[in-house]
Amino acid sequence: KRLAVFVSGGGSNYRAIHEATLSGVVRGDVVALVTDKPGCGGAEHARSNGVPVVVFPKSKSATEGVSVSELLNTMRDLGVDFVLLAGYLKLIPAELVREYPRSILNIHPSLLPAFGGKGYYGLKVHKAAIASGARYSGPTVHFVDEHYDTGKTLAQRVVPVLANDTPEELAARVLHEEHQVYVEAVAALCDDRIVWREDGVPLIRNRS
Ligand code: GRF
Repeated sequence: KRLAVFVSGGGSNYRAIHEATLSGVVRGDVVALVTDKPGCGGAEHARSNGVPVVVFPKSKSATEGVSVSELLNTMRDLGVDFVLLAGYLKLIPAELVREYPRSILNIHPSLLPAFGGKGYYGLKVHKAAIASGARYSGPTVHFVDEHYDTGKTLAQRVVPVLANDTPEELAARVLHEEHQVYVEAVAALCDDRIVWREDGVPLIRNRS
């Protein structure tokens, strides 16, 4: 399967997925890295690994970047099957959601629906989890719809929130699990091991 990964930051989830495609854990290839931040760590890594970088959306000065229809054309040309959001901070345009039904995943660093939605990104998520007194947190992999963090949950991992955790410490504990759970979910997606329950909940079948 052919994967497009959307990244705005350091791209550690992107790198985990890229490595899993190289080792064969994920039966797919990353054919594009899409970013709104052409200088970000994820884009740098892609360039040095021969993965094409597409800038989207256009920068404010419009010196760089493509429109939604240009992005969709590029993705069609590349034969993209699945879209993986990995720390991409912009909302995904409705056209793209419509073009890729049940084919776009995101990872979020909390147990959704807790601490999700617009405004919950980066350390803010972990600050909110600690402030709430939650004893557990962890990443959620979910399908993407037209809103922030509201699509159907596909997979989650649980980590403890420790009494004296800083947001940074909790973030690191969650991020470690993110890499594993995202790779597992993407492996299932590429293997066609996702079954949709009648009520619209996606489940992962084990490898047989
Ligand atoms: C992760 O915490 C992810 O859950 C969130 O953004 C962060 C991206 O980290 N959506 P990285 O760029 O993959 O290292």
